[in-house]
Amino acid sequence: MSFETNQVGRGKIVVGDCLSVMREMDDDQVILALTSPPYFNAINYDDHTRKLAGHTERWERVEVSYDEYRSFLTDRFKELLRVTKPGGHNVVNIAPVGWKGERTPLPFHFVGWMEEIGWRFKEDIIWEKPVAKDRRSGVLLQHPYPGYYYPSLVAEYIFVFQKPSGTKGRDNIYWNRTEDEKEANRLNLADYQGEKSKNVWNIRPMSPQENIHPCPYPLDLARRVIEFYSYKNDLVIDIFAGSGQTNLAAERLERRHIGIEIVREYADYAVEQLKASANQATVEHPNSIAEKSKEARYG
Ligand SMILES: C[S@@+](CC[C@H](N)C(=O)[O-])C[C@H]1O[C@@H](n2cnc3c(N)ncnc32)[C@H](O)[C@@H]1O
Repeated sequence: MSFETNQVGRGKIVVGDCLSVMREMDDDQVILALTSPPYFNAINYDDHTRKLAGHTERWERVEVSYDEYRSFLTDRFKELLRVTKPGGHNVVNIAPVGWKGERTPLPFHFVGWMEEIGWRFKEDIIWEKPVAKDRRSGVLLQHPYPGYYYPSLVAEYIFVFQKPSGTKGRDNIYWNRTEDEKEANRLNLADYQGEKSKNVWNIRPMSPQENIHPCPYPLDLARRVIEFYSYKNDLVIDIFAGSGQTNLAAERLERRHIGIEIVREYADYAVEQLKASANQATVEHPNSIAEKSKEARYG
């Protein structure tokens, strides 16, 4: 089967189901996977794109069982494990979801599911958003008694998993780089001792005016992960690419990248964003554009 593929810069955006697309990829190629899986119960992406086109008034929730959702995810992350190089990382942004009136601890179940299919758990990072979107904490103001505490939700999780590598140390994909390669990828630690050195990251989410996707993650989040877990020219993949934030950050950081997205409108938007970024880069010096886009987009 061949999929519609849009080659842009150092990477590509493929339109299709990531399971089928990954089935056509060779083993052990990816150094870093970064993604945020679809919130099956929370957002119906087809309805959202119809809404974008002005055809529907409100999003309808899709009813799938939790078991179906689990299989959907584990099938795809199993295939991702196959295409990832031993020692490579898989970084997943995920949060608890509302499910049949309950708050479901999806992230905590998810870690177990990932371990069962062979990923090694490595880090739990909390993405703290500076402003709450809900008013849950107001309940206690109305009922100032024990049992009425519902904190506003300002956190999501960023879990880091690694594909086990058989030979301890010898084949380490990070240690075995040449001195030149290490030097070319030296990290700027000027602002490291602030929040970056801790496992709570405070990053402003994107506003709806900045992106057509209903739940993009910020470019700064993608940028941090890519810088911490890959070298220039490594292959970075996002299997649920949405608006292509991972691809955009990877492109600017000179990584090769693949984004897979099933909804054509989002894939097209990702391609447009990448092209716009590439055009900007050709008319300005690459270093100055990196600095400017940091100011403009990472806020
Ligand atoms: C949470 S969003 C990702 C948003 C993305 N991180 C961004 O910054 O724009 C999940 C995406 O997965 C896509 N998706 C759902 N099922 C998919 C599948 N089987 N294969 C590829 N993409 C899929 C949805 O259309 C949605 O855009």
